[in-house]
Amino acid sequence: MPTRKKKELRSEGRSSSETFKKIKNLETEIAVVIGELEQTLWRVECLGRFASLVAADVSAEVLVRGAQEAACQLLQCESTSILLVDPKTGVLPDPFTLGAGARSSLQVPLRMGQSIFGIIQVLNKVPSISSGTRHRDSAHFDEKDSRLLEELSKSLSVGLQNARLKSRLQKSFHETVEVLTEAVTKKDRYTGGHTKRVAYYASLIAKYMDLTPEQSEMVRCAALLHDVGKIGIEDKILKKEGPLNDAEWLVMKTHPELGHEILSRMDGWRSAVDGAYCHHERWDGKGYPAGLKGEEIPLTARIVALADAYDAMVSNRPYRQGIAPEVAYEEIVRQKGTQFDPRVVDAFVSAYLHEKMGKGPSGRKAEPT
Ligand SMILES: [Fe+2]
Repeated sequence: MPTRKKKELRSEGRSSSETFKKIKNLETEIAVVIGELEQTLWRVECLGRFASLVAADVSAEVLVRGAQEAACQLLQCESTSILLVDPKTGVLPDPFTLGAGARSSLQVPLRMGQSIFGIIQVLNKVPSISSGTRHRDSAHFDEKDSRLLEELSKSLSVGLQNARLKSRLQKSFHETVEVLTEAVTKKDRYTGGHTKRVAYYASLIAKYMDLTPEQSEMVRCAALLHDVGKIGIEDKILKKEGPLNDAEWLVMKTHPELGHEILSRMDGWRSAVDGAYCHHERWDGKGYPAGLKGEEIPLTARIVALADAYDAMVSNRPYRQGIAPEVAYEEIVRQKGTQFDPRVVDAFVSAYLHEKMGKGPSGRKAEPT
């Protein structure tokens, strides 16, 4: 073969080997970019999951646990701690003591506006190929980790502030319920005692109804508030030591509406307020004040209605003796699907059989605990 031809072939060989190398390099670069994109997508998903938790209006404890898990996943670290300002002293944990003894650490403040109310801290970066480290001691948090922790801290700050606000509102609602229950008791001792017993029975029924703790609490509050309108009923009718006549009954039957006027400003507690307003509605639509039927009646009201009727039957009044709990039980079961929601009656039956709902060895009705 002529020398020139040989040179041409060698040159072509070199060129195709370089092209091959370039393609290989390009493939590696593409694989790196795809890997980074996948990592970014995974981080966005992780932050998104935590943002959904914040939007789900969960408790501060659930938020803190969620943030700890998210931080460990996002930053690949051994542990995460969330330190909040001591509510008594208003002091943050000493930042110099933070991370002491750890191989690596990163801290980001939790802020509301300009004020810092806590710190989120991650400890001990886990070595990994993706972070370019293979040995424990060489693994450190970088700028990317810092930005991720900042993002997480922003979401957590909003969530914790919302949870704190909600807890304050709940406290003030419960204080209002207590004040109103006390006012009812001051107005009429029987109604006060009845209110507390109805709350006790309603809570026992709710226990057998697969409700969330929040729904069960609304049932209890609806029961405590159900007769609050009796504050507005004149004493000669409310405390009458004998059966009411027709005209007096008409006045007495206004108490759900009177109660609603008192409670209607409690906007955030609709389920308890409606539960109180509708406690004289009946499953078959023959109740009052609105004549609602079946599931048109709020569940809280359907539970309170049964607990109210049970207590009214077993309680002694100056003009009549209460009936025995087992007789009241039979009567309530007989009214399943007419006066009462069948599902609530089933829960009442379970509560009656398994709880202290008046079926004690003495035959006396149970007192609230
Ligand atoms: Fe009532």
